[in-house]
Amino acid sequence: MTWKSIGIFDSGVGGLTVLREIMQTLPQEDTIYLGDTARVPYGTKSPETVTRYAEEIASFLFRRDIKLLVVACNTASAVALPALKRLLPIPVVGVIEPGARRGVEVTRSGRIGVIGTAGTIRSSAYTRAIKRLKPDAEVLTRACPLFVQLAEEGWTDNQVARLTAEIYLKELQLAQVDTLVLGCTHYPLLKPMIAETMGKGVTLVDSAHETARTVAEILSRNSLLRPASEEGNHTYYVTDIPAGFVRIGNRFLGGKLGDVFQVTLDEAGGAL
Ligand code: DGL
Repeated sequence: MTWKSIGIFDSGVGGLTVLREIMQTLPQEDTIYLGDTARVPYGTKSPETVTRYAEEIASFLFRRDIKLLVVACNTASAVALPALKRLLPIPVVGVIEPGARRGVEVTRSGRIGVIGTAGTIRSSAYTRAIKRLKPDAEVLTRACPLFVQLAEEGWTDNQVARLTAEIYLKELQLAQVDTLVLGCTHYPLLKPMIAETMGKGVTLVDSAHETARTVAEILSRNSLLRPASEEGNHTYYVTDIPAGFVRIGNRFLGGKLGDVFQVTLDEAGGAL
């Protein structure tokens, strides 16, 4: 029996934090990752543009015969998930729903903070997902765009990072949220510093971790899980030259990246 791979994509390296969690939860699965490094960032772009990019990538990965697609990018999950679900005849998993579900599970006071890119916060996707599950929740949101650059630069625990976090997170602290959803692929790298800034008593929710659990559940429910005795292979594609992705990627993945292949936009694009 041949087992199909899990497809996963992001605007760039950030989604490797989601891939890392999937590799930990499901080490037996083959994965195909695409980082749209030629068109990153998505967080500053319009929903229409991000949806078009996401559809092109979903088509590219579907043609590589995947069994499930993970939209690792929070911004793409926030604006393009319904379009991708319509496009593909396989399960499509975004990061918003799992992160929202976990936030609702862990909050005691019902005051939940959400941080993400400008695009994710503007979409209100997390607020809607949380309110669907817990209509009386109070959701406070804040875009923290500079966190993306800090994480990529490796500035996760210096004065600049701390000061930036203090400014971004001040209102959420004052509002006394007891739960903070990290609604961006890059934020898990800043987790210790964000936790320290928010102070004790605030639980941080990592969307990446929750998404991996959701993927495992869906594959198991559909009898699509590979036997645990297998060892997964991992393939990486990018849309710009691989150098930058490789340099930063190992840190995001928390391990060694395999070979990274460049694909052209024409190959990545096109209809199903
Ligand atoms: N991957 C994006 C996200 O999770 C962050 C980087 C970007 O703006 O493209 O929203």
